[in-house]
Amino acid sequence: MSSDTLAAVFGAADRLAGLGTTIFTEMTALADETGAINLGQGFPDVDGPDEAVQAAVRALHSGQNQYAPLAGVPPLIEAVRDHQREHYGLEPEAVQITFGATEAIAAALMGLCNPGDDVVVLEPYYDSYAACIGFAGATRRPVTLRPPAFALEEDELRAAIGPRARVLLLNSPHNPTGRVLTAAELQAIARACIEHDLICISDEVYEHLVYDGRHVPVATLGGMAERTLTVSSVGKSFSFTGWKVGWCSGPAELVRAARTVKQYLSFAGGTPLQHAAAAALRLPRSYLDELARSLRERRDRLCDGLSAAGLRPLVPAGTYFVNADVGGDAVAFCAELPHRCGVVALPTSAFYDHQEVASSLVRFAFCKREDVIDEASRRLARLV
Ligand SMILES: Cc1ncc(COP(=O)(O)O)c(C=O)c1O
Repeated sequence: MSSDTLAAVFGAADRLAGLGTTIFTEMTALADETGAINLGQGFPDVDGPDEAVQAAVRALHSGQNQYAPLAGVPPLIEAVRDHQREHYGLEPEAVQITFGATEAIAAALMGLCNPGDDVVVLEPYYDSYAACIGFAGATRRPVTLRPPAFALEEDELRAAIGPRARVLLLNSPHNPTGRVLTAAELQAIARACIEHDLICISDEVYEHLVYDGRHVPVATLGGMAERTLTVSSVGKSFSFTGWKVGWCSGPAELVRAARTVKQYLSFAGGTPLQHAAAAALRLPRSYLDELARSLRERRDRLCDGLSAAGLRPLVPAGTYFVNADVGGDAVAFCAELPHRCGVVALPTSAFYDHQEVASSLVRFAFCKREDVIDEASRRLARLV
């Protein structure tokens, strides 16, 4: 292929997704190149529960190696149903297993949006949202969460909902701010969805990573179960981000829309890991409690390190991430940080359409071993 043709192909992909930046890839490459501690990308550096790993090995050795049924393997579908019931009192009509939450979100957006529809989304947002809204031929309408509180303002939410609005794409606990939306904020979202007859796609991958407050699925609010597709995965709850086993659940016709697209994206696989994910979901609650306790400790440890380095952390209520105000241009700060002290982090503005809102914020991941956080803190102390 000529370089012109290649440029045209990449140009088309960029245009479709509405993307202008490759900062995530760049920063990870920078970490590899410089040997810096990578607090940019959110993945744990220890494995998840051995019971689930053993279940994967058993599945691999017992012939669970062919395509899964399109909806997913029955033990995992049952485990997702039981999880939704036992944790939240939800009784989803249908469940679809996917390659991570990312595929569930992609399939849902493509299955539920027509070209020209609007998708209302909280910004900053997880980077795949913009791409998938683009793939669906829809337009994103961001509702800006501003530091330091990152609160959802109901009037701004309403201003983003125009006549073409079809989907509200929600994420709480929220990446990259670490916010867990309050009951009042969720009520505002529910009111807006009901009033404007919107479908809610609720990305709850950090549902069990909450340190202050409580995660409330928006589907549990009055009038929302029938219009909400809830998305989650084993990545964050069980520290298996590389397994990419996720799911969506909710009303049959919303799940069917996602399933129809998913069938042509990837059909159905990861069969042994689906069985292992079922085993993970069957672990006692004490596993999830212990994970949250340990992450809370690591959050506090990194926040202490950031404060000691003269940066001002905005202590998050959930997720893997803390944002810190570096008091200047965060993009330049992140570009220099690996060279100055051997740490990689991301400018929070990369997650915004309105990048100026977060021009001095940097996102650090704390889902790392304590010794790694301590070493990163020692290195960051060179900043003062
Ligand atoms: C908000 C949010 N949603 C979804 C994902 C991806 O989930 P999965 O790995 O299950 O595809 C991430 C991962 O960083 C995320 O931050």
